[in-house]
Amino acid sequence: MKNVPRIKSTSENPLEWAAHVLNLVPTPMVETLSAAILARSVMVAARLGLFAALGAKAQTPEELAQDIDADAGAVRKLLNVLTASGYVRYREPRYALTAMSRKWLLPSSPDSLHENILWRFYEWQAIDYLEEFVRTGKAIEAHETLSAEAWPAYQRGMRSAANVLANELLRRMPVPFGAKAMLDIGGSHGLYSAGLCRRHPGLRSVILDLPSAVEHAAPLLAQERMGDRVVHRPGNALTDDLGEACWDLVLMAQLVHHFDEPTNRDLFERITRALRPGGVFAIVEFFRPSSPQAVGQTGMVMDLFFAITSFSGTWPPEELAAWQREAGLTPKKTIHFLTAPGVGIQAATKPRNASPRRRANGAHRTSFADFQSAVG
Ligand SMILES: C[S@@+](CC[C@H](N)C(=O)[O-])C[C@H]1O[C@@H](n2cnc3c(N)ncnc32)[C@H](O)[C@@H]1O
Repeated sequence: MKNVPRIKSTSENPLEWAAHVLNLVPTPMVETLSAAILARSVMVAARLGLFAALGAKAQTPEELAQDIDADAGAVRKLLNVLTASGYVRYREPRYALTAMSRKWLLPSSPDSLHENILWRFYEWQAIDYLEEFVRTGKAIEAHETLSAEAWPAYQRGMRSAANVLANELLRRMPVPFGAKAMLDIGGSHGLYSAGLCRRHPGLRSVILDLPSAVEHAAPLLAQERMGDRVVHRPGNALTDDLGEACWDLVLMAQLVHHFDEPTNRDLFERITRALRPGGVFAIVEFFRPSSPQAVGQTGMVMDLFFAITSFSGTWPPEELAAWQREAGLTPKKTIHFLTAPGVGIQAATKPRNASPRRRANGAHRTSFADFQSAVG
């Protein structure tokens, strides 16, 4: 069964449950005012260093306010929202982190989402644009309009979220036996490339990402200490030459949701040409249900969000598989992650006897020779 958690107003006792069933609870108020204040409370607590300070020791609001340079009365109210929502616990007179916050929000935790929560301040601006998007259908075009100060926050935010997927992704990724060369399109921080190369000792990876991304992702990749086995290549997957029959694995994680259908189909064809026979093209994505009647709130919410940022959205895995098939690949069974709601892998293999497909117009700008020298 698919793992499909959802955001929903729930009841805290049998009487509230009965009120819910009888449709007496003002659900839209809970899902707008309460949800928005809780979201913003977690973001602000992260930015002010509240989780780090409480992680070090339990504190009273007065001690904490001094520690993070804030107002004690306001800190108490913020702590109470976080306590009522399971982020903090209270034992008179002090507040401490719950196990959930210690794992996900403590900046020093190996699973920390701290940098990802900070990225939410920029995403909030995009969410504010929703009404304009619905009225006009015009997207923000995030990658073209991101400010210089947002780029480093974006790359750190993606790195922090990728950490959550990494274990299951690395374990379940269908890497061809004896794979040597990997292309990680939009691979940013390089966490997946580094992890896959560690698991497959003969594998080397080239991360193709936009120049502004590479500038700020370079220090994150350096932390992986992979040397020349995992390298960045600044460029653009939509215009660069991806090569011909030269990669055993092409990974595209969290990128197809930024491209529309014709762009993705064209890219899938070029990826197919770039794969060696027997090579695998793996897409890691939020999946949208194929029908609005199907369960899958995360996929639908992210579909709208990416429409605002990129005039695209999430795709059903069946649709991604159909484009892979049309490009000449053999799709594999979709993998749905158990540890991440609505996310999974849609992979496909290039048949060993595939006849090379020629493009009608081979108008891609960057020379492939640079890639070849990078993977040897
Ligand atoms: C949402 S992030 C995903 C990062 C990483 N793959 C992950 O899953 O954590 C999308 C990445 O794709 C990059 N990107 C966007 N458009 C691109 C393009 N045309 N060519 C190459 N990379 C692109 C962005 O700069 C960004 O680093």
